[in-house]
Amino acid sequence: MKTTNIIKKAVLPAAGLGTRFLPATKASPKEMLPIVDKPLIQYAVEEALRCGIEEFIIITGKNKRAIEDHFDNAYELEERLKNSGKKKLLEELNKLKKINFAYIRQREALGLGHAVLCAKPFIKDEPFVVILSDDLIEPTYNFLGEMIEIYLKRKAPLVALTEVAGSEVHRYGIIDGFLEDNVYRIKDLIEKPEPSKAPSNLAIIGRYILTPDIFPFLQMQKPGAGGEIQLTDALNKMAKKIPIYGYPIKGKRFDAGDKLGYLKATIDFALLNPELSTEFKEYLINKVKAIL
Ligand code: UTP
Repeated sequence: MKTTNIIKKAVLPAAGLGTRFLPATKASPKEMLPIVDKPLIQYAVEEALRCGIEEFIIITGKNKRAIEDHFDNAYELEERLKNSGKKKLLEELNKLKKINFAYIRQREALGLGHAVLCAKPFIKDEPFVVILSDDLIEPTYNFLGEMIEIYLKRKAPLVALTEVAGSEVHRYGIIDGFLEDNVYRIKDLIEKPEPSKAPSNLAIIGRYILTPDIFPFLQMQKPGAGGEIQLTDALNKMAKKIPIYGYPIKGKRFDAGDKLGYLKATIDFALLNPELSTEFKEYLINKVKAIL
């Protein structure tokens, strides 16, 4: 699907503490964890670039310097690659040079809602996407492009959804809504409900298309679950004033901010990698045989 996109900006919150991945994330950003050979945040940036996004606003925090360095020039390394004839690697690095990044520091990890609010001065009066890098989607699946198409049709905020098991609802924002064509019209959003209080098993995942309408709600939002300013809570208040929709993902998505999800993503992405797949598949087959 080719998207004629009026959405040009992406906000990538990356200031969380990454406690599920400690101790790896004590001094290095979770968003820099590699899947095969690329950090999670680069997959997120490339996904947005494929949809015509041109400007990236990354919300960073303490111990996140590596993100800025990753998207910066690296003269010594580039010289070395040039001199040793490693053209393909050099091209891979050069691709990142043309992208516009702005960095905003969230001084305290006060929650995802607060992180998105930090982007307000850069958004002005435009719709924008929010991408959480640890929700990883296979690059061949244009899910964000589909979301943008829906936004262009409905001109209303949209969140990505997935079905989760009843035992998992307490880890997510859960929606209550009804189907209108291929999207849910959302009535309520509840952050991390107890399983007995969850209105559905439709969980919000890390892709959002928002409009500046969200900012006043975020500004007024008090801390909720986990003592954090939750984007879900602000969206819930907004849903009472303007229509908000939810769009279920149909392809594969990995929660790479979680150890098990990260391992699964690594296996799937390695099997898709032409340089690795044959040998890695053979290794996996032998491994499975050995443990059965
Ligand atoms: P998570 O819920 O995954 O939290 O945040 P986390 O701190 O990154 O990781 P865990 O749960 O402790 O292991 C969802 C997204 O929101 C960002 C995170 O960087 C992640 O992309 N975030 C969260 C912020 O930018 N600031 C915050 O204060 C909280």
